[in-house]
Amino acid sequence: MKRMEFLNAHILSSQQFDRKDVEKIIKVARELEPVAQKKLTSDLLRGKLLASLFYEPSTRTRLSFEAAMLRLGGKVASVVGMENSSIKKGETLYDTARIVSFYSDVVAIRYSESGSTEAFSEGATVPVINAGDGANEHPTQALTDIFTIAKERKTVDGMTIAMVGDLKYGRTVHSLARLLSRYSVKLIFVSPPQLAMPQEIKHHLQEKGVFVEETENLEDAIRRSDVLYMTRIQRERFSDEATYKRFHGVYVLTKGLVERCNPHVLLLHPLPRCGEIHPDVDALDGAGYFRQAGNGVSVRMALLSLVLGKM
Ligand code: NCD
Repeated sequence: MKRMEFLNAHILSSQQFDRKDVEKIIKVARELEPVAQKKLTSDLLRGKLLASLFYEPSTRTRLSFEAAMLRLGGKVASVVGMENSSIKKGETLYDTARIVSFYSDVVAIRYSESGSTEAFSEGATVPVINAGDGANEHPTQALTDIFTIAKERKTVDGMTIAMVGDLKYGRTVHSLARLLSRYSVKLIFVSPPQLAMPQEIKHHLQEKGVFVEETENLEDAIRRSDVLYMTRIQRERFSDEATYKRFHGVYVLTKGLVERCNPHVLLLHPLPRCGEIHPDVDALDGAGYFRQAGNGVSVRMALLSLVLGKM
């Protein structure tokens, strides 16, 4: 199989990476980690400009993209929120992409509709990185998650990984499940039936021979997992507040629960947490979610450097 060409590539879905591509990104992220961790300075991306277009709320993803660019000596120009954009006036994503391509060397974009970043990329002449398109995908988060598991546990193969919460609307679990199909893993999906992982993704996993189990029982899943990936209920994707309230709080992790069921489990969460991980869990060695958020800078440094042909 032909290797993925990173130079000038759009990064739109975790489906575009095979295992060797993921390993390459992890290797580059490891190399750039001292810069991400503020131990070294770098001007690898000097003269390059990132357009950071965030039409949906974000803290970690936007700041880690911008920190990645700035710490590698590049520059950033940003649009934050629909209110501040021409899309609000009726401009298409295609037209915006044509224009932004004159001003920048690479684009990171988050938008509320599934498939929107792909539509944007059709008008772009510079590489476009999907920073979250509605409930669809969030590939840079999935790469950060795999980087974190590999770093914390030395391997991804052989792991049993449970994903918990809103698996229907959570874009991070969609991208992560697809990317994990490149490894030899077991997946346990823990959700209410109404918020189950989409069929299309389960079919994909089946085709790839990944062992998948679905349950509503969190305790049982904790006992049998090496990694527990918590997610929040995606409030903004529900048409009514009452349905959201019905599911909010359905799975809550406490220190006592983790210690009783499996004190060695690695705990991840893309964040923000909205009650599903009690703050007393933070004291556990296995509470990896803040380190995971930190890792986002190294991984995004790797992606920016690769698509700009600097690594
Ligand atoms: C996630 C997202 O935006 O999809 N956040 C993030 O990027 N770390 C998760 C979420 O909002 O639930």
